[in-house]
Amino acid sequence: MSFDLEATGIRKAFAGVPALGGVDLVVEKGSFYALVGPSGCGKSTLLRIVGGHESPDAGRVVIGGRDVTADPPEQRPVHTVFQHYALFPHLCVEDNVAFPLRMRGTGRRERRARAAEALAMVRLDGYGRRPVATLSGGEKQRVALARALVPRPAIVLLDEPLGALDLQLRRAMQDELRDLQHRVGLTFLHVTHDQEEAFRLADRVAVLHRGLVAQQGAPRDVYRRPASRFVAAFLGVGNLLPGRPEPDGRRFRTEGGLVLETAEPRPGAAFAAVREERVLVQPERAGAPAGDLSGLVEDVVFLGATTRVSVRVGGAGALVQGVAADGAPPAKGARVTLHVDPEDVWLLPPEPA
Ligand SMILES: Nc1ncnc2c1ncn2[C@@H]1O[C@H](COP(=O)(O)OP(=O)(O)OP(=O)(O)O)[C@@H](O)[C@H]1O
Ligand SMILES: [Mg+2]
Repeated sequence: MSFDLEATGIRKAFAGVPALGGVDLVVEKGSFYALVGPSGCGKSTLLRIVGGHESPDAGRVVIGGRDVTADPPEQRPVHTVFQHYALFPHLCVEDNVAFPLRMRGTGRRERRARAAEALAMVRLDGYGRRPVATLSGGEKQRVALARALVPRPAIVLLDEPLGALDLQLRRAMQDELRDLQHRVGLTFLHVTHDQEEAFRLADRVAVLHRGLVAQQGAPRDVYRRPASRFVAAFLGVGNLLPGRPEPDGRRFRTEGGLVLETAEPRPGAAFAAVREERVLVQPERAGAPAGDLSGLVEDVVFLGATTRVSVRVGGAGALVQGVAADGAPPAKGARVTLHVDPEDVWLLPPEPA
């Protein structure tokens, strides 16, 4: 199989402090790949190494079968879109977009034609003569994208390209980015600390933690089957309950004394991960199915699409986050029933020390 980008064994330390501890990444040609992780985990450093703006202490970067580890940025078939656009405020839109071509000595005629083509791709036809200073944030972002596309790079590197936009514009631009990537068929490597953005956009995601890839895979698999407590917490799993499996393996006993049935036993598990949106909270009723849990409501928070309910199960025992069933949410102090499907109880290994 031909891969567009292979980064192998990438290490980088700054003043003796490791930022990347041996990262392997394979980004398939034509895919939309997202790198996610908390602030400081090494995302931008990795992107800079791929783009040639930083050199690794160890490891190789191979693009389209060619080792580019020692090549300067302009000799790599990649282009980077930085978070803060990095546009030239004194130039018009067209001159900004055509800038990489000018650096390569492309003639004026071809520059104009290709800038117009790139502007059409980001739906900014007719904006060529506008001074960039007069554009909105979203328009500037699209100019930065057009400038990345105009040299026809094999890979577009995007470092938090939507970070400066408000939520509504961000969502709209996410849809546009995805659509654009499909239309032009380029390879996108996209850095974000927003896991929702990564899931919305990417064919594959890698979660970075302290300079290492904690997990990579299809968004759906990573979401449903986080590999560690760190990944589960980063992806917003509301219940991460420490404990251990019962001898039968099919049940897990939490430190709070809660017993949960699981569809996927894991010997030696140390945590049960259950998404709060999979825990249904209902007013207590007689004849609840066996396996349902009972507890007292400690807190109720309206979140918009759902209402989060914190329930103390089994006396002083475990605090479980769930969502209220349709209709009126329960009041604080009410006695409720929790339903957890064994399919939604995912067991995790102990954390490394
Ligand atoms: N030029 C540098 N000199 C010294 N330390 C650096 C340098 N660049 C990055 N670092 C350090 O390396 C680590 C990783 O930084 P990096 O910018 O890659 O994080 P990030 O994942 O992009 O974070 P964010 O989400 O905040 O942008 C951080 O601890 C950072 O302080
Ligand atoms: Mg960064």
